[in-house]
Amino acid sequence: MPTRPVSLGNLARLRGLRGHLESAVLGQSEAIRGLSDALLAGELGHARPGRPRSILLLLGPTGTGKTRAVKEASAYLYGPQALARVNAAEFSSAERVPLLLGGVQGEEGLLSSLVGALSRTGGGILLLDEIEKAHPSVADHLLGIEDGSVTTASGRQLDLSGLHLAVTSNVGSAGVVEMAGVSPASVRRYVEQEASAQFRPEVFARFTAVLVFAHLSRDIQMDVCRQMLDDEVAFQAARLSEAFGHPHAIRVSPEVCGRLAGEGWHRRLGARPMRNAVERRVREALVEARLSGALGPGVRESVLAAARGEGLRAFVARSPVLL
Ligand SMILES: Nc1ncnc2c1ncn2[C@@H]1O[C@H](COP(=O)(O)OP(=O)(O)O)[C@@H](O)[C@H]1O
Ligand SMILES: [Mg+2]
Repeated sequence: MPTRPVSLGNLARLRGLRGHLESAVLGQSEAIRGLSDALLAGELGHARPGRPRSILLLLGPTGTGKTRAVKEASAYLYGPQALARVNAAEFSSAERVPLLLGGVQGEEGLLSSLVGALSRTGGGILLLDEIEKAHPSVADHLLGIEDGSVTTASGRQLDLSGLHLAVTSNVGSAGVVEMAGVSPASVRRYVEQEASAQFRPEVFARFTAVLVFAHLSRDIQMDVCRQMLDDEVAFQAARLSEAFGHPHAIRVSPEVCGRLAGEGWHRRLGARPMRNAVERRVREALVEARLSGALGPGVRESVLAAARGEGLRAFVARSPVLL
């Protein structure tokens, strides 16, 4: 696929990529810098002709923002529909691999339809998510690309030039969880070593960038929680405004994030359970306040606060008596 000329407007947008990713994926500035540099090199036409624009490996513990970073980058560069994600766990056995890579009888696999769709819409990112769960032939086949094309089992050539290929792996996650207090450079070395042992050396050498996501500190866990809480509260305030027929604002009491971040963070799963915890607690509190009759039409402001014991309470801003 030929490189598109870069207009001034487009250049400004490319310049904004890193900042955008940093505001979406918190506490990962080193990995985000590497990610955005590699994507931009591809976007600006610095990849070898006929090769994918970039071939990226995102490593690090579960629930630290790897998949989110790729989704955000894809939406920013190519629009919300442009990400083609392969959940590698669905292709963990040899019998299932043809569903991805195609069969010898000529059946086309998922890969060929995803690549076709991306190419028709002018490019995008092909994400191979959680590669450590796939059958080893998946990585060998996809990353063994000599030039920019992959041959399917039925012999069809898929052109990956013009696309970015992003691969995530949680390999080494369990080890990193045990490495509290170890320097980030040593954690990085450990994760890279674990990953390089997973791929054949010639496959590992194909990556144009290897990015290691860090375990999230307590402060960053709080920031992630606050980001999700702001999101959920804005969504629920809009729901209540609609239901009441007038604007309704929800304020959040300062102790709420501490409570929810503790509940939503999981040692092994990172921030994965956080969104669920935030949504569940906010909704529980709102439902309780609505059923009690305290929160209804006519009320223009409410406050979410930590309840005694577990959970949250929603109370009407000017009637703290309801606490
Ligand atoms: N560093 C982070 N900044 C913001 N949100 C994050 C971060 N890490 C994880 N999350 C959130 O946690 C959930 C799981 O993150 P994900 O990117 O899927 O993790 P993984 O590293 O396992 O791919 C998502 O909802 C994501 O938005
Ligand atoms: Mg992921």
